[in-house]
Amino acid sequence: MSAATENNKRKVTTHRLKEMKSRGEKISMLTAYDYSMASIIDQAGMDAILVGDSASNVMAGNVTTLPMTLDQMIYHGSSVVKAVKRALVVVDMPFGTCSGNPELSLQAAIRIMKETGADTLKIEGGEEIIEDIRKIVDAGIPVMGHLGLMPQSINKYGTYTVRAKEKAEAEKLINDALLLEKAGCYAVTLEKIPAKLAAEITDKLSIPTIGIGAGAFTDGQVLVMHDMLGINKDFSPKFLRRYSDLHATITNAVQNYIEDVKSQDFPNENESY
Ligand code: KIV
Repeated sequence: MSAATENNKRKVTTHRLKEMKSRGEKISMLTAYDYSMASIIDQAGMDAILVGDSASNVMAGNVTTLPMTLDQMIYHGSSVVKAVKRALVVVDMPFGTCSGNPELSLQAAIRIMKETGADTLKIEGGEEIIEDIRKIVDAGIPVMGHLGLMPQSINKYGTYTVRAKEKAEAEKLINDALLLEKAGCYAVTLEKIPAKLAAEITDKLSIPTIGIGAGAFTDGQVLVMHDMLGINKDFSPKFLRRYSDLHATITNAVQNYIEDVKSQDFPNENESY
């Protein structure tokens, strides 16, 4: 086996993501919320798997990510961790668990790390929660920041449109990104911001940026698995590329099964004991 192949099979760490940025290798990240899908995604060679609080939307059917609880994130996180051998596993801290009380935030972070076995956490927010992030990082827990569109703050903004198009918000975003790096974050997710701004931040930071709707010049890309596999039919933002139409594939398979049951074609003799 070549050294490159051997190297590729090694467990991905936060350090390896930084190395990838240094040599200009793009980082691939995709969400997963359960054992079976995480296993497929890991074996396909994904660098990082995000147990996103988008589970609230795509798994639980909620309109926003706000209802997600710590226990629910731990359930999804531990299911994913059991399946993953190579990818870095990142678990989202859910709404309300990291919001300006560093001691409480650390307790929540420790619970996720202990009870899921995940490698790292992702936290939405900048300057307002910088002390929380510092406390968590200082306790030995790697943190990926999350700036730009922050779905947990949807009630504050009232819309999911592109963020930081105006100068003042763009300047705050750059400042927040620098603060996150200084506080010890190993990477930052940039969601739905202009490509030019994402490129500028990527250039300014020594840690990797992972974009979603942030253009081509971030150090990596992340998508929600249900969106890119075409399981969701109703969500079609400009930034999304669909790699499959699982909605049609699954509908077709399920309809064939119904038909076979009704027509008594299934089960046949070979499928019986
Ligand atoms: O929860 C999630 O899936 C996320 C991605 C959109 C980055 O945070």
